[in-house]
Amino acid sequence: MAAVAHYWASCAGGLEFALLKELENLEGTSIIPGIDSYGGVQFRTTSAPQKVAELRSADNVYAFLSHHKKIPVDKESGMAFLGSLAGKIDWEPVMQLHRLWQETEEPDSSSGISDPLLTINGMANVEQTHVTPQRSFRVTGNRICKDMKKHGYTSMDAAAAIGDGMHELLGWPADMRSFNVEVLAWIIDDELLLVLALIYSGNKKKTKNLQNVSNINEPCAEVEDVEGSEQVKSTKKKRPAERPSRADAQLYSRRPYRKALVHTSLKPSTAYGLLQLADVQPGDIVLDPMCGCGTIPLEAINWLGTRVMGLAGDFVDTAVEAANINATAGESPGHCDVVRWDASMLPLRTASIDRVICDMPFGNRCGNHKVREVLCPRVVKQVVRVLRPGSGIAVLMAQSKTMKEEIEVNQKAYLNLQKHFYVYMEGLKVDVFVVRRTSEPAPTQQIVRPIKNMAKRKRDGQLTKQAALENLSSENPVQ
Ligand SMILES: C[S@@+](CC[C@H](N)C(=O)[O-])C[C@H]1O[C@@H](n2cnc3c(N)ncnc32)[C@H](O)[C@@H]1O
Repeated sequence: MAAVAHYWASCAGGLEFALLKELENLEGTSIIPGIDSYGGVQFRTTSAPQKVAELRSADNVYAFLSHHKKIPVDKESGMAFLGSLAGKIDWEPVMQLHRLWQETEEPDSSSGISDPLLTINGMANVEQTHVTPQRSFRVTGNRICKDMKKHGYTSMDAAAAIGDGMHELLGWPADMRSFNVEVLAWIIDDELLLVLALIYSGNKKKTKNLQNVSNINEPCAEVEDVEGSEQVKSTKKKRPAERPSRADAQLYSRRPYRKALVHTSLKPSTAYGLLQLADVQPGDIVLDPMCGCGTIPLEAINWLGTRVMGLAGDFVDTAVEAANINATAGESPGHCDVVRWDASMLPLRTASIDRVICDMPFGNRCGNHKVREVLCPRVVKQVVRVLRPGSGIAVLMAQSKTMKEEIEVNQKAYLNLQKHFYVYMEGLKVDVFVVRRTSEPAPTQQIVRPIKNMAKRKRDGQLTKQAALENLSSENPVQ
């Protein structure tokens, strides 16, 4: 009988439904409820790593180590508690799972090094690892204060305490730069989730590409590291080339269309969740009017193949360039058209689109908040116009105070709000609206002044916030 493995699969908080749906269809899987504060799902499965790695809605999968509520938050008892955690974990099945994933991931890269706990006989022989430690490890701590003010310890303190406990028990040397095992400790208020990474890129050969990628800690919509991908015109600080990282080794980084990124690129796993909400069907035309690097329509094509047609557009040159690179790199080139346009005046036929799915600009790095508030209603009007009456569905992700009112009041005759909830991404709370187009024929189109060249003018320092607002709010009369 296949061994049962215990996993934590992460995803954007609020999109767990898509992960649960996928796990329902994964053979030999049982869900373990009880962890609600973290985006993700805990489960046990007898399915092989290859099958688990096919989960589209997971950002990443980890070996589950432990979960604790009401952990001490003052320094002294906190350190003592965290230092004792290693002794509470059954490391043998965890390291077996780790080895299985390493064999699956890199079958040819046998370094002759086996997992320490597999060369010894479980915990009885821990002493042996003290003599010839074969693996190095690091613990990465991440701490968030949501409802409480402050922990008595830093993330580094927490990681060090857990690491000390592991070193004492298992005898592995800690190495921050070159490690084979990485434990992640995520602390939210007085709750702790401890997992072990299964996907790595922690070797020099692979980390070379990291020179091109962005800093994942930047407070942007969705910023991430992608191995082997091209960051289009990255203006961010470069990461030291030899620093091994797990961050670029997310499960979704393997999508074949993911060759070029913009700094607001959406995670494909999140895009998949949005496609589920939109109930995309074979034969649909899927439009993202503000496409960035084109993740949403390209994920639809990657998932359903050439049975869907993608349409992507953006008004920033680098985004259009990135989307074009990705559209031709995927398995189905030619199935996603990329256009440079202004989403508030789409050059598309009325009632021609089945699904509009869009993560609109949000977060500090995506423009000015006031500009976004003016842009939202304009884009919604375009969505109303291009969606097929009676059957069209739109999923709009935005940080906007006016969006709900626009849908429920101003466009009430044309849009039916079916769902409104929040998704948590990189610490940001973002609204998601799922709307269905009513059968009411589209209203006559308003002619609006183009927002063209706004991004370029902003870059060149020619566009002030005031000018952008004036440009956006001056609409020509209805024709
Ligand atoms: C959050 S990002 C979308 C990211 C995208 N889903 C991806 O995966 O790369 C929002 C995008 O909207 C674009 N945008 C902002 N205002 C626009 C407008 N008026 N017309 C077209 N695109 C616009 C920005 O250039 C940016 O690429």
